Amino acid sequence: MCGIIGYIGKNCEKVLLTGLKRLEYRGYDSAGMTVSRDGEFVTYKEVGEVKNLEKIVSLSEDFGYGIAHTRWATHGSISLENTHPHFSANGSVALVHNGIIENFEELKNDLLAKSIRFYGQTDSEVVAKMFDKLNINSLRYVLKRLVGSYALVLLSKDGEQLYFAKNRSPLYVARGEDCVMIASDPSCFVDFADSYFELEDGDYGKISLKNDVFYNKNDEKIEKMPKKIDFNFLSEDKSGYEHYMIKEIYQSRLVLESLIERYQTTNLKAKLEEIKHLEFDRIYLVGCGTAYHAGLVGQSYLNERFNIDTFCDIASELPNKNYNIDSHSLCIFISQSGETADTISALKFCKERDAHIVALTNVEYSTIAHLADINLPIFAGQEKSVASTKAYFAQCVTIYILSCFLQGKDYVEPLKIFKNHIDFGDDNELKKLAKVVARYDKVFFIGRGKDYITSQEVSLKLKEITYIFSTAVASGELKHGSLSLVDDKFLTVVISSDKEQFAKTLSNAYEIKSRGGKLLLITSLFVDSDVRGNFDYVLEVPKTENDLLPMQIILPLQKLAYFTACERGNNPDKPRNLAKSVTVE
Ligand code: F6R
Repeated sequence: MCGIIGYIGKNCEKVLLTGLKRLEYRGYDSAGMTVSRDGEFVTYKEVGEVKNLEKIVSLSEDFGYGIAHTRWATHGSISLENTHPHFSANGSVALVHNGIIENFEELKNDLLAKSIRFYGQTDSEVVAKMFDKLNINSLRYVLKRLVGSYALVLLSKDGEQLYFAKNRSPLYVARGEDCVMIASDPSCFVDFADSYFELEDGDYGKISLKNDVFYNKNDEKIEKMPKKIDFNFLSEDKSGYEHYMIKEIYQSRLVLESLIERYQTTNLKAKLEEIKHLEFDRIYLVGCGTAYHAGLVGQSYLNERFNIDTFCDIASELPNKNYNIDSHSLCIFISQSGETADTISALKFCKERDAHIVALTNVEYSTIAHLADINLPIFAGQEKSVASTKAYFAQCVTIYILSCFLQGKDYVEPLKIFKNHIDFGDDNELKKLAKVVARYDKVFFIGRGKDYITSQEVSLKLKEITYIFSTAVASGELKHGSLSLVDDKFLTVVISSDKEQFAKTLSNAYEIKSRGGKLLLITSLFVDSDVRGNFDYVLEVPKTENDLLPMQIILPLQKLAYFTACERGNNPDKPRNLAKSVTVE
């Protein structure tokens, strides 16, 4: 994963630190920067978040050339040795890398045979050690030997330019007055540019204050057209909330408003119409983690409404399943970031089989949006917390809109009613319950049908930010194995919003109670006092129209996970071991 940035201009250290903070969603295991002035490198590295690096960097207003990196560890431990930038053996070239070099061991063995010394274990350091000088020819030579994904930015002690290359990891360039920047995400350009150049796979070249030189994968010199960017998307502050996560949960109301408005515009209706007129006899919904759960919600809508086989799968598993994907398949890829490597890979797999490709993304300039035939934006605004909340909500609403449209059913009125009654649950009650959940180390979430999907999503949210072991089990499946885990230290959260399934789910809950397990009922149904008496805890969640229940119920449950993380003293915005954008397979 990782975020990389390069900059030529004044206030080099400060600009790089600001950029790194914007890229921190890509990883925060360690951060580093190298700045070159008057033919000398100054390098800073620190383990942990960018704020740690910030403490040791000496700022200078002077003109400089710099590169910087925020890391999500893939090869090698989280340590200073493995923190970028990495250097050539003679120390004259510095490099930052995002991606994975698949043949790094072979390359490293060649270098070791030449007695080149390594300081850490990263694949990136191997690339740095392949240089002894930096120019377009040496870059070309090294690129020809690399197998894998990379966004690279390189700097030499005496150079007045930054060199770069891109393959399957994002990289963008923007020019301002007296400065130029290259970065993993155009959000880094917000302070000085309103347009940027997008690099394609195989592109490489150099940027300097005077000009940019771009080559494509065939070594042809190319011109790039600038693209405009809407920076209103970016949200830099917490608007008075303690964490981004809680702010973002509450933003779901605004997101809903925005989706209702935008999906009545001609432009977006034309996209929906275009999908409606495609010829397909199978639908595949594909995503990872939370986005996959949104796909499951979508599958439930589409299955209910069409006489068409609809499948939903995890992106990394799709190519292993022998699905019958061809030109009669509609493949819908769901991804908040639009940069998830597993999803990109599954998308390419379906594209090669001539399937119709639709993307549901939050980032309109992302790789997935770019690769799709049709992109349906989810308009969630920037999501900074690693745990996805408002984007999940937006993905579910967008698929609901799509499924209504395909079926010729009105979506505006039901969504407007939902917006007017949207309910985030009572803070005091949720905080009390969070104190209870925080005491457990093992939690089951159980439910049936759409409640099972919600169980999977809340379970993921809870484990992600609280580090409590939690897993979702379809209620009916418990007795087929998982029940053996239950004892009095186990909490089972029973999610029930479907009247018809309630009796069966209740029996499953009682099977747990008879084995000493503790029970928390989360329900939007009327529950009499006898039933309540069988549960250790009960949380009533708001009702809404049946179709929209998964979007309503998730809101207080996201908050429950959030409060539980706070109760355990964790930072919910930056859970350990994770990153917001997962750009490795
Ligand atoms: C969980 C979470 C992840 C992402 C997953 C896919 O809270 O955020 O499970 O949903 O990594 O990311 P995108 O949607 O960017 O493809």
